Amino acid sequence: MLSRLALLLWHLLLVIALENSLSEASSAHDRLDAGPPESWIHEPRPEDTVRVCPLPFCKSCRTAEQIQAPGIGFALEMGYGTASIRHHDGTYQDLAYIAGDNTYVSLLQRLASESPRFPAHDLSTYRGKLLWATERTQRLLSKNLGRPATPTIVVLADMLSRLKIQVESVLKDGRKVTAAVLSSPDLVSLSGEEITDALDYLSITNLMAKPDTLEDLYASSAAYAGLGMGLCDHYTDPYVCEQEDNEIYPSTRLLHLDFSPESLCVTIRWIKSAKESKVNKSIVDHDLGLGRSYVLKDVYWDAVRSRIRRLVQSFGVRITRVILTGSSASDQRFKAVVREALRDWTTVGAFDMMEQQGLDGEPSMLLYATARGAAEFAKRRLEGPVRCKETERCKEFRQGIEQAKSTNKLEL
Ligand SMILES: *[C@@H]1O[C@H](CO)[C@@H](O)[C@H](O)[C@H]1NC(C)=O
Repeated sequence: MLSRLALLLWHLLLVIALENSLSEASSAHDRLDAGPPESWIHEPRPEDTVRVCPLPFCKSCRTAEQIQAPGIGFALEMGYGTASIRHHDGTYQDLAYIAGDNTYVSLLQRLASESPRFPAHDLSTYRGKLLWATERTQRLLSKNLGRPATPTIVVLADMLSRLKIQVESVLKDGRKVTAAVLSSPDLVSLSGEEITDALDYLSITNLMAKPDTLEDLYASSAAYAGLGMGLCDHYTDPYVCEQEDNEIYPSTRLLHLDFSPESLCVTIRWIKSAKESKVNKSIVDHDLGLGRSYVLKDVYWDAVRSRIRRLVQSFGVRITRVILTGSSASDQRFKAVVREALRDWTTVGAFDMMEQQGLDGEPSMLLYATARGAAEFAKRRLEGPVRCKETERCKEFRQGIEQAKSTNKLEL
């Protein structure tokens, strides 16, 4: 009993010591690397951690580099990863599609089937405390030694490092990726800590974690944003943006289908802004990926049709918008099956976006929608103020940069 208690105490002390040394180490690290300096980040004071109105002033102005820097977005999907860039001129560049190896695919499948993803340790028992402390200790020890924090992070970081190489091959002047946003499937919902750990290992700042982790980005929101919906136009002015978020896009009952050789993911949610992440229902079926070998194709498509239909029916309301993502979503039979599955369960115009996607042999809108959305979030979080408002001086500086750009065609 006593020795157990001593062990627990030792663990806790170690965790506290490591948390401290880690935060010192990581801030030293931030100062050294070429990433965005810490100074531009509005550090929330305790009273700011919940949404306050009016917004506080930002601690500093964005630098010219931050304003013009491209946004880098990574998307981890069930069977592969993608990366896109959102340039300062508003265009997207789709860069990398990397197929996951067996380790990657089985990890994602395992994470998607874990429910709940983060079983809370029962901290009222010694055993729970000990487990918790051991986990924290291992994670922090690994991070301090410059290793990936957990076995899960090893696999994710491996995929990310391959995507990173491809992105860096097109960045000008041999620039490195120093900040990015990462999207993961709704059902996997990587935690802020997992995403930060994976990106940290590659010396990339997780832009969704600054200044706080109040917002998450998962596939259906990322795809919604990547397809040009659910985000305000004027994102450098938080008040205007807030108003636009409320007014431009109507509340949508969204059906997001992600279809690849590995799986069929179906997500239903009530969405207005792409900044929301709450999902009503999300399922993944690994037996219904396009790569599954069915002897009779008709049997397979019947199964796909009824899986989708049953889920939508169980909600008992009509879908107002359907969006597709995934490497198999351009399959014509699939689109036809989706239409049949939703017969009588959609409103007028629900298929408009779906029909546009993948036309003209343009796979980008299907394959890269999530990475584009992540890149859009990255761009906005680098360029615009996050949960703070800018002083007049900052705004003037920003306008000056934009004017110089339009007159000199400043290339970045
Ligand atoms: C879906 O979730 C929204 C909130 O995000 C809620 O208002 C709505 O009632 C839910 N719908 C169903 C059918 O559960």
